[in-house]
Amino acid sequence: YIKMVKICCIGAGYVGGPTMAVIALKCPAIEVVVVDISVPRITAWNSDHLPIYEPGLDEVVKQCRGKNLFFSLEVEKHVSEADIVFVSVNTPTKTQGLGAGKAADLTYWESSARMIADVSKSDKIVVEKSTVPVKTAEAIEKILTHNSKGINFQILSNPEFLAEGTAISDLLNPDRVLIGGRETPGGEKAVKALKDVYANWVPEERIICTNLWSAELSKLAANAFLAQRISSVNAMSALCEATGADVTEVSHAVGKDTRIGPKFLNASVGFGGSCFQKDILNLVYICECNGLPEVANYWKQVVKINDYQKTRFVNRVVASMFNTVSGKKVAILGFAFKKDTGDTRETPAIDVCRGLLGDNASLSIYDPQVTEDQIRRDLAMKKFDWDQRSHLQPLSPTAIRSLSVVWDAYDAAKDAHAVCILTEWDEFRTLDYQRIYDNMQKPAFLFDGRNVVDAEKLRGIGFIVYSIGKPLDLWLKDMPAIA
Ligand code: NAI
Repeated sequence: YIKMVKICCIGAGYVGGPTMAVIALKCPAIEVVVVDISVPRITAWNSDHLPIYEPGLDEVVKQCRGKNLFFSLEVEKHVSEADIVFVSVNTPTKTQGLGAGKAADLTYWESSARMIADVSKSDKIVVEKSTVPVKTAEAIEKILTHNSKGINFQILSNPEFLAEGTAISDLLNPDRVLIGGRETPGGEKAVKALKDVYANWVPEERIICTNLWSAELSKLAANAFLAQRISSVNAMSALCEATGADVTEVSHAVGKDTRIGPKFLNASVGFGGSCFQKDILNLVYICECNGLPEVANYWKQVVKINDYQKTRFVNRVVASMFNTVSGKKVAILGFAFKKDTGDTRETPAIDVCRGLLGDNASLSIYDPQVTEDQIRRDLAMKKFDWDQRSHLQPLSPTAIRSLSVVWDAYDAAKDAHAVCILTEWDEFRTLDYQRIYDNMQKPAFLFDGRNVVDAEKLRGIGFIVYSIGKPLDLWLKDMPAIA
């Protein structure tokens, strides 16, 4: 006998949408409702054009929507009816007040918790799906119990480890599912209930149960370790360029050590996405609040190297092109923070484009999944500098006017002085680079921020090629970039 449970998830974003779709797919006996306050988001989830691009997502949603998967704006109704409430709202970095530039902004989380307490008429398990600072469950517990009218709430931490671009396969076949709960009979019962949900498709040995604080901290730790690998290899890439070593060879040799492993060791223009920087800064803040400045500074360097890598790339572009890109057309291939997603949050492309526009370049941008609206919004946005804790000057209207967004890589590169590859989309590997070269100004430069092209082949065509962390062309050696 399986009890029919009802799950409600607050927040229909990159995490809430795909995770709940997969739960619905794998648990036909459970009714899953994803709620959000954003009308466009919910409308899109109920349409043929889902609000996020993720390989395999359309099929899963199509299979379950209207059967046991629903998207709704009726937040309070569905929360009050649910047995398990996932909270998957956004938790950005605070840009004002105490902890600005580092601490997580829990405004959305707190208002969700207060709403849950307000509308609940039956006992509930409340699951932290969002990434939150360690010890958040304690605060949430206080809000819930002080407003509970005698209802029993159990708080669980169940951080999400999916990666954008591979979310569906990550969810179908996770390396692990992590559930943290109170070590009380009530807490253990709640952990068991959530474990039973995942056990519908996740092998038991991959479901890890811990105390609340370990689960919360593990998510921050995992993101910090992942980002640290990228900053480590990117730091090496700078040294490779200075010495003639090749970062791809170094990564390969280093990654062969089974203690290190080969994954996540590609040098690039820098990491992006909504999570790595935010979560590390959050970790830094928590360390500082706990009187651990040395630990805080250690992790802070991971974000600093990432900023350095983006600046270094811009400087390399400008220095190679006779120290000026003013009035020159530069094609930007790729704007999303990684391939197979349309997400542009914290994408390195924003900083690179801002840097080039700041030097008066005229940009032509192409990304297969990002709309012109999104690109313009991202570039026009006042950018918050975490390190200075202030907003960077917005780009001038002239700079914004001097950029165009096109729907074709060849169009972007036509008459350009340089091409910059900023996202590792597969299609950039197989472009007709001879055709691109023929239609460019000469000398034709190609700056590969993701090491996706065959540099030797392109040099054969006539390009001057810069690949991150690889031995430099004579041309580039003669035009040293000062980072
Ligand atoms: P998102 O911004 O795409 O989605 C959050 C949604 O919550 C938005 O649609 C927003 O309208 C909604 N929301 C905010 N306040 C609300 C309220 N009071 N009631 C109803 N809905 C509300 O964010 P995303 O990317 O899904 O991230 C959510 C959390 O998951 C964050 O804490 C993030 O750190 C974490 N996470 C994100 C991953 C990712 O790859 N994006 C991976 C793992 C964790």
